[in-house]
Amino acid sequence: MPPPLPRATNETIVSPLEGKRIVLGVTGGIAAYKAIEVSRRLVDAGAHVVPIMTEAAQHFVGTTTLSALASEPVQTELWHNPTTPIPHTKVGQGADLIIVAPATAKLIAAYRIGYSHDLLTNTLIATRAPVIVCPAMHTEMWEHPSVEDNIDTLRERGVHIVEPESGRLAGGDVGAGRLASPETIVAAAETVLGPADLDGVSVVVSAGGTREPIDAVRVIANRSSGKQGYAIAAEAASRGAEVTLVSTVSLAAPPGVEVVAVETAAEMQSAMESRASGADVVVMAAAVADFRPVDAAGGKLKKRDGVPQIVLEPTPDILAGLGSTKPSGQVLVGFAAETDDLVANAEAKLTKKRLDLIVANDVSAPAVGFAHDTNAVTLLRPGAKPVEIDLAAKRDVARAVINTIVEIRTGND
Ligand code: CTP
Repeated sequence: MPPPLPRATNETIVSPLEGKRIVLGVTGGIAAYKAIEVSRRLVDAGAHVVPIMTEAAQHFVGTTTLSALASEPVQTELWHNPTTPIPHTKVGQGADLIIVAPATAKLIAAYRIGYSHDLLTNTLIATRAPVIVCPAMHTEMWEHPSVEDNIDTLRERGVHIVEPESGRLAGGDVGAGRLASPETIVAAAETVLGPADLDGVSVVVSAGGTREPIDAVRVIANRSSGKQGYAIAAEAASRGAEVTLVSTVSLAAPPGVEVVAVETAAEMQSAMESRASGADVVVMAAAVADFRPVDAAGGKLKKRDGVPQIVLEPTPDILAGLGSTKPSGQVLVGFAAETDDLVANAEAKLTKKRLDLIVANDVSAPAVGFAHDTNAVTLLRPGAKPVEIDLAAKRDVARAVINTIVEIRTGND
């Protein structure tokens, strides 16, 4: 597993999981090993993870691994529990959130009828905290009417269900029932514990660098990895927005986000223009090529024909176009990748492209911008003092960007 990223120090942009006490219940399924990664991600986001394993879960993973990666040792016992004399209520009462991942058909049935026979089921019954249940089982079991019925009842009671994905199952067969990815489970936790301040808001984000063909095999590209745009899309979705991500890269789609794949500036322009007119928020995080070859060769340019003369032409400035046709009330956000005179250059773009916010980064600074998992940016709004966001994970920077967008939208009301 990669080392954890630095966590934001600015208290307005910390993860909604920071400082939260999250009980992670693990039941007996082959996907129990994925709970280790869920725990690790929750801890990285600043949560205090209290792990519980059922007896069956211990047949699939050992308590030692989860104890090492959670915030405290795994609890398994209702009786003779070394942590507390009354574990059946203490654990659930102290929780801010309970996640059960994976959740077997048996756990789901027991939870539905309040059959509190072990530490995890007691904890679920004795809590007022929100609960996320992440089922994982074979397709036949997942589609059985009893399981469907139990899931429906839990949903009606306000339990959050992170549905299993389709894919290869333990028996080698393929179908619905595979535990959702750790990323999806942690995103669900962020949604449950975070603000829903973009509920129903439509957001369009662009990400990645465009690629302009020279011939059939070569392109003019840039160093953008798309990670910052993806983080913004993920953060917006976790706060309730309906998000479309126009992307040139093939990173995993953030949970709940619709991805539209494009490659060139022209493709990105048409994808953005057709979606931006109906959007409440548009964020142009992509690095668009400023120039493209006038005539891309249909085949491969051959060495024997000598050094090619590649004539370039400017690409359309997509963001400037979106600024000139911006519907009233829409929040339009651009990025500025700079190496010198950061604030002055970004301010000029803010005005010229008629933006509500520009996110400027000094791409020559260490650990900032292209390809890194961290970023440090300056947020500029018309007539307001620049706000500096120190080096932090791109998701934390995304939180700062989305917080500012929410502030602008509140001011627009
Ligand atoms: N942008 C765009 N279309 C282009 C070029 C840039 O939509 N053809 C957008 C980028 O997505 C970004 C903003 O404009 O949100 C600023 O991009 P940047 O590369 O920093 O600046 P440019 O406007 O290209 O100016 P320069 O290259 O001179 O810095």
